[in-house]
Amino acid sequence: MILVTGGAGFIGSNFVLGWLAQSDEPVINLDKLTYAGNLGNLQALADDPRHVFVKGDICDEKLVAGLLAQYKPRAILNFAAESHVDRSIHGPRDFVITNVNGTFALLEATRAYWADLADADKAAFRFLHVSTDEVYGTLGAEDAPFTETTAYAPNSPYSASKAASDHLVRAYYHTYGLPTLTTNCSNNYGPYHFPEKLIPLIIANARQGKPLPIYGDGQQVRDWLYVSDHCAAIRRVLEAGRPGETYNVGGWNEMANLDVVRILCGILDELAPKAAGSYVDQIVHVADRPGHDRRYAIDARKIERELGWKPVETFETGIRKTVEWYLEHDAWVRDVQSGDYLRWLDTNYSNRDSQPEPGQ
Ligand code: NAD
Ligand code: TYD
Repeated sequence: MILVTGGAGFIGSNFVLGWLAQSDEPVINLDKLTYAGNLGNLQALADDPRHVFVKGDICDEKLVAGLLAQYKPRAILNFAAESHVDRSIHGPRDFVITNVNGTFALLEATRAYWADLADADKAAFRFLHVSTDEVYGTLGAEDAPFTETTAYAPNSPYSASKAASDHLVRAYYHTYGLPTLTTNCSNNYGPYHFPEKLIPLIIANARQGKPLPIYGDGQQVRDWLYVSDHCAAIRRVLEAGRPGETYNVGGWNEMANLDVVRILCGILDELAPKAAGSYVDQIVHVADRPGHDRRYAIDARKIERELGWKPVETFETGIRKTVEWYLEHDAWVRDVQSGDYLRWLDTNYSNRDSQPEPGQ
């Protein structure tokens, strides 16, 4: 089996759902259920014995060690993180605690577990760390996209904490020989994306008649990748990536924020027209984000050359699917915005009788 951390968040839940759709290998899902974790994302697996959910913190080294001893996973995939740049500006502490200390605790528990494995299991074991292109900092309009050898130059507390975690992962390979893999991916979008991030926020605000806030001039460029393509890349790196290596993952799809928002408005005008006018009329420019990176772009040739991965979705196909998903999941958005999803644990477990295991 595999141990996934942060599997109730946006990418983690897409990964777990995708994994169990194409494999019967069980998943232990360790998630702290912060504001970003939503067990409702995994409702389809509620009665599936292949999915074991554990509410807990990756900083809790004893808990992680206990899970490793109990379930003996062949791999750990670390998605757990504080992930929102704006939150990292308002309150960087949680980012250092989870992203840096948490990754460190996970690595320490993993190192102890891995050291005691039999030789064949030791060689086959993998620690896959899911990271971001934001560790490379910002590009000018004419600069070449980020490669795996681009120097780290993070500019936000979020990207700095992810950079620190990447360095720890690297060090555990070089120092202890732990078979690590790191993926540095560009901006994802798709189902279950928390509506504080640009694309789901714009869809939700548009539908609710609220302003569509563009930071600064809206000419900041991101390289968008549909989330299921990212999940496929992670599966491929886990399967065939070379230990100690890092792989950049991206969609070859650079786009300015204002263009993304205009495309969203166009699709919404078509699929869910307003009584009068266009959603574009709701666009407003607001004060820019401090330290706002101007451009990210990923050179994803290494993962294509070495592992044969490339994205399946284009931005046109992926963004349409995304808007359609949000239109069909109004209730999911409403639950997230009202905080109702946080009560999911109570809803799910409070009315169930619990009985000890027979024979115990
Ligand atoms: P997310 O914020 O949606 O989900 C994070 C999940 O981690 C949540 O379920 C949360 O409850 C859990 N978590 C947070 N702190 C934890 C802790 N201390 N212990 C256990 N669980 C904890 O994030 P996401 O967008 O799904 O990102 C997942 C990973 O992918 C992150 O490491 C992020 O840096 C990376 N990444 C994200 C993007 C993107 O566009 N979203 C792009 C590249 C890389
Ligand atoms: P975001 O989804 O927060 O991802 P990241 O900061 O990790 O790239 O933001 C994507 C881009 O959209 C980024 O350049 C900031 C911008 N943005 C806005 O213009 N308005 C908003 O309300 C938000 C949340 C983001």
